Amino acid sequence: MEVIILKDPLEVSKLAAAHVVHQVQQKPMSCLGLATGSTPKNMYELLCQYYEQGKVDFSRVTSFNLDEYVGLASHHPASYGSYMEENLFRFINIRKENCHIPNGMAEDVPKECQSYEEKIQKAGGIDLQILGIGTDGHIAFNEPSSSLSSRTRLKTLTEQTRNDNRHFFAEEEEVPVHVITMGVGTIMEARKILLLATGEKKADAIAKTVEGPVTAMVPSSILQFHSKVALVIDEAAARLLTRKDYYRWVYMQKPPWQKQIADSFL
Ligand code: PGA
Repeated sequence: MEVIILKDPLEVSKLAAAHVVHQVQQKPMSCLGLATGSTPKNMYELLCQYYEQGKVDFSRVTSFNLDEYVGLASHHPASYGSYMEENLFRFINIRKENCHIPNGMAEDVPKECQSYEEKIQKAGGIDLQILGIGTDGHIAFNEPSSSLSSRTRLKTLTEQTRNDNRHFFAEEEEVPVHVITMGVGTIMEARKILLLATGEKKADAIAKTVEGPVTAMVPSSILQFHSKVALVIDEAAARLLTRKDYYRWVYMQKPPWQKQIADSFL
């Protein structure tokens, strides 16, 4: 598991965007797994800029989002459909029909989940998965106690996650209780995973992810079993890692061919 500790959220976003651009340049028909939330917002802004500057072409890219609220239409301002439209899709040349987000209004939720899994398979699987992390160690909306081999399905959010996400909703509105989320097993099948975390609030979850035991009580800890995963985090999110200095040292010692993505954008 690679742990990359950077100065601040901007550096985290720059490195993450660099990885996405690199992925798409290497494989124009890449299948990207996309995340929502506060953390990747700036990465998306950079991707829009790089697209404007002609550095990246998304015309052959396919994308799959991690999750969506149940009961919110895709045009609801707090839906992840709106989030993706407003932060990325409408500013780049990705084709609408290639962008996939679970349908939170589906009448038959199990069928929607099954069909989402099939679409990922049909697209050839996810090449690069971007992840955030919840303060409780959730990835996508796989809350603590989620099966570590779960697939796309209906989940019930914890009170903590609903509180963490309340700021995305208008004051009088309730955060939905249910979501459709890719499973932990679905996420683990991505060929490469980049988990982004910034801020003090994530420090405990990051320490448990990297240095704690693998347990369903911290779903992100399963990433210890992934062969190509990097955690790109800022100093604040790294605060509780006991082997911080070692992770910094490893990063500094990287041979030039491994550092090339970082060097070209930072
Ligand atoms: P955040 O959410 O980026 O808004 O902190 C992350 C998550 O819940 O996965």
